Amino acid sequence: MSTVGTKELTANVPAQFTTTSIGRKVLMAITGLLLSAFVVVHLVGNLQIFIGQTQLNAYAHTLQSLGVIKWLFRLGLLLFVGIHIWEGVITWWQNKQSRPVGYIKEDTIQATLASRTMIYTGLVIVSFVVYHLLHFTLIVTNPQYATLPPDAAGNFDAYKMVVLGFRNPIIAGVYIVAMFLLAFHLTHSFSSMFQTLGLNNNRYIDKLKFYGSLVAWLIFLAYISIPVAVLVGIVKLPGGGA
Ligand code: HEM
Repeated sequence: MSTVGTKELTANVPAQFTTTSIGRKVLMAITGLLLSAFVVVHLVGNLQIFIGQTQLNAYAHTLQSLGVIKWLFRLGLLLFVGIHIWEGVITWWQNKQSRPVGYIKEDTIQATLASRTMIYTGLVIVSFVVYHLLHFTLIVTNPQYATLPPDAAGNFDAYKMVVLGFRNPIIAGVYIVAMFLLAFHLTHSFSSMFQTLGLNNNRYIDKLKFYGSLVAWLIFLAYISIPVAVLVGIVKLPGGGA
């Protein structure tokens, strides 16, 4: 083989890797793992609402003041989401094209509901994140939050924004449904991720699947504890005001 041929071959390896089905799976597993890590870190941040207004607002203020780090983090997140969706849609499309009609019933019996609906739950989660950014980050859907007076420490009142948001049962309902679908998506993601990254063998796979699902549903319960606590009045506006 000529040197030129070897060079061409080596240069093509990353491109070929991302277009093979195992390459796609590895990329989806890695980006999925990083996005799941974000979901957990974001959850831990949000749960500070139970400590109180000052704590949540100080935390939100710290994140906002990270400057260039915040933007690098956002760019990374966007890149991971982009790769995850791109590879997911292509995998779904290729599976759809290559599946012989006669085997559909058999495949369906083998696959779980979560695995068969990954593309749909994934697309709903993306739509939710777009809504969520318009709601709490860009403050487009409820512009009244932008004029909230700062808290006693002079920080933007993220606590009040979240409480006002979830006092609306329709908004709280949208979040609860989206987080249910996120957990459902994660139940299959975790077991498929272990398989792709070779972290399983026949002896442990059932245990890994069980703990993966357990973590997904714990994430769901922890997230929905926030809108539920607002709806039932456990987390409320300071002084109970409107
Ligand atoms: C109870 C549920 C949730 C609450 C109360 C909540 C709260 C918030 C708040 C207050 C912000 C704005 C932070 C700021 O700009 O200072 C935010 C940003 C964000 N949230 Fe959530 N969130 C929830 C669930 C989720 C979920 C389930 C996801 C992902 C699937 C998510 C993804 C994001 C993203 C990507 C941002 C933008 C981060 C950035 O500005 O860099 N959130 N969230």
